[in-house]
Amino acid sequence: MIWRRDNAGADPPAPRGKTPETEPTGPAGARRAPRDLAPSPLLLPVVDPRSPVTERYRRMMTHIDHLGARDDHPYRMIVMSSSREAEGKTLTSMNLALAMAEDRDRKVLLMDVDLHRPRVHHFLLSKPRIGWVDVFEDRADLETAILELNQSRLRMLPAGRAPEKPAEIIKSERFRRLLRQLRDRFDTVILDAPPLMRFVDANILNSYADGLVFVIRAGLTSRQIVRKALTQITTGRIIGVVLNDVRYTLVDRYYYRYDEYGGSYYDREDR
Ligand SMILES: Nc1ncnc2c1ncn2[C@@H]1O[C@H](COP(=O)(O)OP(=O)(O)OP(=O)(O)O)[C@@H](O)[C@H]1O
Ligand SMILES: [Mg+2]
Repeated sequence: MIWRRDNAGADPPAPRGKTPETEPTGPAGARRAPRDLAPSPLLLPVVDPRSPVTERYRRMMTHIDHLGARDDHPYRMIVMSSSREAEGKTLTSMNLALAMAEDRDRKVLLMDVDLHRPRVHHFLLSKPRIGWVDVFEDRADLETAILELNQSRLRMLPAGRAPEKPAEIIKSERFRRLLRQLRDRFDTVILDAPPLMRFVDANILNSYADGLVFVIRAGLTSRQIVRKALTQITTGRIIGVVLNDVRYTLVDRYYYRYDEYGGSYYDREDR
């Protein structure tokens, strides 16, 4: 992971001020089928909580919390975006959210706001029938749309039916109200957004959120595209950059050695 700003000095974690009574359990008697996560080996905080890569997602979480505390600007609603498709936005959103949800006192929601290619359900065993677009269009209520998972305390809000004009929904006051509602109910909301080079959505979303994390898939996207994509962010803050899917031959010796250290610390024999 590469961070825009120096976060040395290890400030205390950001205050997350929500009380247990805001737990999104839904109204008494509400029936919500638990949705299991797909057994993807890439969902590391669930399949291998002690792996060094899981530790990287926890470190990402700590960086975000520390930066928020240092700047007195807690990052409670975070947009995940990238230049283009398939850079790992959804996977990074998922694993960051799962790492955050390990904390029993932290209520975390992962919301699929990629209305062009909603994909969060790829990490579920079955495709949800409804999502927040159905709530938005009065076909369902929010309680029914929020999914509980069996293997994690994370809550998920799929997009549901893909609408004809996504940007109109994202720009609407009604959508902003929905985000405010979610902000009140959860300590952290991760918004899995579309890529910046193709759609305006992520930039609009960043004006409602506390900041944006920019995902780059190592070896896939050129510097030129990355630079161009970053110019598309004209609102809100950029929290940092995640370099996803790093092959060690691609990075310099410093990072290689650093990772070697991490690897030896978590040697299999020590588990
Ligand atoms: N670090 C990684 N290691 C292995 N596979 C990965 C990694 N990151 C992403 N992938 C795989 O690449 C594909 C694209 O990832 P993902 O769906 O997270 O990207 P995305 O940026 O959300 O794409 P889209 O713009 O289409 O929504 C998925 O099959 C995912 O499992
Ligand atoms: Mg995606």
